[in-house]
Amino acid sequence: MEEKNKRETFSTGFAVFFATLGSAVGLGNIWKFPYLIGTNGGGAFLLVYLLCVVLVGIPIMSCEFYIGRKSRKNAVGAFKKLNASKGWKTIGFMGVASAFLIAFFYSSVAGWVYSYVFKAIKGDFAGVTLVTANTKFMSTLVGPLSPIVWQFIVLCVVSIILIAGVKNGIERITKTLMPVLFILILICDVRALTLPGASQGLKFLFHVDFTQLTGPVILAALGLAFFKLSLGMGTMLTYGSYFTQSNNMIATSAKVALSDSLISILAGIAIFPAVFSFGLTPSEGPGLLFKTIPLVFSKIPFGSVLLVAFFFLTAIAATTAMISMIEVPVAYFTEEKGIGRKNAVLLTTSIMMVVGILATLSAHPTSVLGNIHILGQRGFFDSFDFISSNILLPIGGLLIAIYVGYFVKKEDFKLELSNQGTLNNDLVLNIIYIFIKFISPCLLIIVFFNSIGIIKL
Ligand code: PHE
Repeated sequence: MEEKNKRETFSTGFAVFFATLGSAVGLGNIWKFPYLIGTNGGGAFLLVYLLCVVLVGIPIMSCEFYIGRKSRKNAVGAFKKLNASKGWKTIGFMGVASAFLIAFFYSSVAGWVYSYVFKAIKGDFAGVTLVTANTKFMSTLVGPLSPIVWQFIVLCVVSIILIAGVKNGIERITKTLMPVLFILILICDVRALTLPGASQGLKFLFHVDFTQLTGPVILAALGLAFFKLSLGMGTMLTYGSYFTQSNNMIATSAKVALSDSLISILAGIAIFPAVFSFGLTPSEGPGLLFKTIPLVFSKIPFGSVLLVAFFFLTAIAATTAMISMIEVPVAYFTEEKGIGRKNAVLLTTSIMMVVGILATLSAHPTSVLGNIHILGQRGFFDSFDFISSNILLPIGGLLIAIYVGYFVKKEDFKLELSNQGTLNNDLVLNIIYIFIKFISPCLLIIVFFNSIGIIKL
């Protein structure tokens, strides 16, 4: 994608917004968000998720943009450039590790999406029923060979784009296709809302039942907020390093966080009414999207064409999100280790392919490696997800907030985020600073201690 040495910047504020949204919007909105809402009991999880986005997500995104634009460097090099003491580079290393862990399972799920595009084109979903939707998903998932082949195809596509360095191309694709994806989700929403029994789905999504809120549920909501907004691992830091000097970065953080949440909620509105109407269970797990969407489209005129379009656009959203994720290690290898861009990409994606097979072969209990459990708890697929989203990203976010809140001069922070005073946003800056210094770190610490049982909420 970006040629780091030239230090390009995005051309306009509009491009900044769409590029950043292109990283945030992906399988997180369409696949992970609905399935986690389903397994964590509905509305209460949604409420905690939205609180995490506002109280922790927006402040930390602003911090990442600050570090990125101020240093105009990659996630590891940035701290050196800002004269931070050596230890802060750990944030960058953790980011590189998170990028790998996420990519191991993300490429696997993206592979399922790619294969659904292919299946939809072949007309495999004609006359789909609950039973056939289930069998189609299971055969996609359990394979064993086909999901590995699709994962390989995904990683090849991502490598080609990353090597070709077609940042502008990607920008243009996201800018035009993201609104189309948005419209398709809206069409699904309208259909889902008019299905018999739709209100039960809405009730599940929006009714807040506080008894559902346990430590692990709150941690999962927090982890999802980080995963969704691509935070805590240097992706937004790297993007910040390409921002224009005139960008209002706090406004960008807020706009990206809110648009991203809106897309997630709209995906939820498309899925949950269908879950209840077609007799699935909300706690279905990772298959939720793959089973409900073909069923919803089977009830829409020209549904088979729209189904192809839906999975195609989801595949694009997943691909652009992956590109921003993999850019973190690639930028590190090229800028800090002096490896050429092409080799850096091939090295990174090859590791992702080899280890990613472990995720692919453990996605379901009946998969080839489905009964291997790390530390007796989770399989590879779930472990990669849990360790990255629920542990590394929030810790990365905590360290970023502590760095900016306690090791950067407040004046410096305010100067950069007010574009040298030209934005007149003093009040907003003072508020966000309080969040960065006190509220976000405290919340992060409380959620952690609560989830490991050291304190009880
Ligand atoms: N935010 C992306 C999504 O929702 C995933 C992602 C995580 C991308 C971390 C980059 C870095 O799908």
